[in-house]
Amino acid sequence: MQEIKFYSGENLPLELHKTRIVQKLHLVPIERRLEALYEGGFNTFQLSTKDVFLDMLTDSGTNAMSDNQLAAMMQADDAYAGSQSFIRLEKAVRDVLGKELLLPVHQGRAAENIIAIAYVRKGSLVPMNYHFTTAMAHITDKGGQIAELLYDEAYVINSDHPFKGNMNIEKLEEVIIQKGAKNVPFIRMEASTNLIGGQPFSVQNLRDVRAVADKYGIRLVLDCSLIGENAFLVLQREEEFKNSDMGTVIRTMTALADLCYFSARKLSSSRGGGICTDSKEIFKELEALVPLYEGFLTYGGMSIREVEAMAVGLYETLDETVISQSPSFIKYLVEELHKKQVPVIRPAGVLGVHLDAMQICAHIPQKQYPAGALAAALFLISGVRGMERGSISNQRDEYGNETYADMELLRLAVPRRVFTLSQIKYVEDRLTWLYDNRELIGGLKFNYEPPVLRFFMGKLEPTSDWPQKLMAKFKEDFGESL
Ligand SMILES: Cc1ncc(COP(=O)(O)O)c(C=O)c1O
Repeated sequence: MQEIKFYSGENLPLELHKTRIVQKLHLVPIERRLEALYEGGFNTFQLSTKDVFLDMLTDSGTNAMSDNQLAAMMQADDAYAGSQSFIRLEKAVRDVLGKELLLPVHQGRAAENIIAIAYVRKGSLVPMNYHFTTAMAHITDKGGQIAELLYDEAYVINSDHPFKGNMNIEKLEEVIIQKGAKNVPFIRMEASTNLIGGQPFSVQNLRDVRAVADKYGIRLVLDCSLIGENAFLVLQREEEFKNSDMGTVIRTMTALADLCYFSARKLSSSRGGGICTDSKEIFKELEALVPLYEGFLTYGGMSIREVEAMAVGLYETLDETVISQSPSFIKYLVEELHKKQVPVIRPAGVLGVHLDAMQICAHIPQKQYPAGALAAALFLISGVRGMERGSISNQRDEYGNETYADMELLRLAVPRRVFTLSQIKYVEDRLTWLYDNRELIGGLKFNYEPPVLRFFMGKLEPTSDWPQKLMAKFKEDFGESL
C-alpha cells in the first residue's frame, strides 16, 4: 500500500479507486429497526436489506467488482462443455495460484463437501489451525472430527502477535501420533483465519506444517479463500518477504500445499469457487464428484459470466492497491476504537473488525449469547448489520450439548472498496455510544433452533425488554436523528 502523507498530519487510509456505479442506501427510523429485529428473530442473517443501512454481515460475494471484471462478463463463452471462459480461468489459476489442475465448484463450501466426501471417514481426524463453520460441518457430516491447534496467543484479544493464525507444530505432531497418521486424511490450514479475527499465518509456519505433513505422509490442504489478504500481511509482517511481492508470496504458500481450495466470493470478488492441485492422483480422486454434485468440469455449477469475472478477479488479487484497501480501513477503525477503549481484536486482521462481546457484554452469560445480543443491539442503534461469530455460530456436540465458543465476537465485515471513510466513521461513532451504554444490552434465547448451521436460520428472542430500553436511551441522546 502506498503511504500517502497528509499535510494535516492525520493518518487516513486513502482510497486508490473511484466510484462510478453506486447503490442507494436507506437509514430507516429506529422504531422500524426494532420491528425488523423482532421479525428476523434477532438474527442478523434474517434481516432484509431494505432495513439495513451499512451491510457489514460479510465480505463474501459483496466486494465491489472492478470495471475490468464487469467488462469480462460480457465476453463470456456460454458453452456447457469446453468453454473458452474456463480456459481463461485455468490460466488465471496457474498464473496466480501456481497450480496446474483446476476443478470448478459453485462456492467454497462445495469444495469442502467434495474434499470431505473423498477423504473423510467415520473416525477420521482433521487437524487445522482453526475451523470455519462450513468446513467443520462437512467434516462432521461425514463422520469425522476436527482438532484446532492454534497457539494460546491466538486467543488473546489485545495482542501484538503478527501471526495469530499459526498452527501449533508441537501439538500437531502430538495429535497425529495419538490418532495414528492413517486416521488423519489431511491437515487443513486456513489463510487469514476467519473466526479468530481474520488473523494470518506466516510462510515459515506453513513450511513447518509441511515438514510434519511430509514426515507422516499426510496431505496438506490450504483454504485459500483469504490468501490475498494473508499474503498482504506477510509482506507487512514477515521479515523474509519485506521486499517481495504479492504473487511471490501467494505462490510460495500454495506451492507448500497438495491441494488448495477457495471461495471465489472472497478471493476474486466474484462468485463461485475452485479446487486446484498439481497432483494428477488427487485430481482423479476428486474429479468424478464435480459433475455429480456441481456441474460439468468446465463450469462447476457457476454461470460462465462468473467464471470470467473470477479469472479477472484472480489477477486483481495480485494488485496491492486492491488488496490493501479493506485491511487499511479495518486497521483505521480498530485503532480508533482501541483509542476509545472499546475492546476489539488486535492487531487488526483482515475481512472485518472483530469486537470482543465477552468484555463488552461481560454482564451477559455465555448461554445468553453475548455476541448475538451485541449484533442485535448495534443494528438497533445504527442500522449497521454485523455477524455473530460466537456460540450461536458453533454447532452442538454429538450429544446435543452447547459447545461454547472460545471467543464471543461481533464481526463487522469491510468488503473490498465498498464503504467510504465517513461511513466507517459513523460505525465508530455508534459503536462508541453503544459501548458507553453497554449495560443496557441484555441476553437472547433461541425460540427456533435448526439442527445444522443454526446461525443461518435460527430465531431468537430477547430475555427481557432491553431492546425497548436501549431504544429509549438512544432517543434521549439523539432526539429525532435516525
Ligand atoms: C475461510 C473460508 N473458507 C470457506 C468459506 C466458504 O465459502 P462459501 O461461502 O463460498 O461457501 C468461507 C466463507 O466465508 C471462508 O471464509
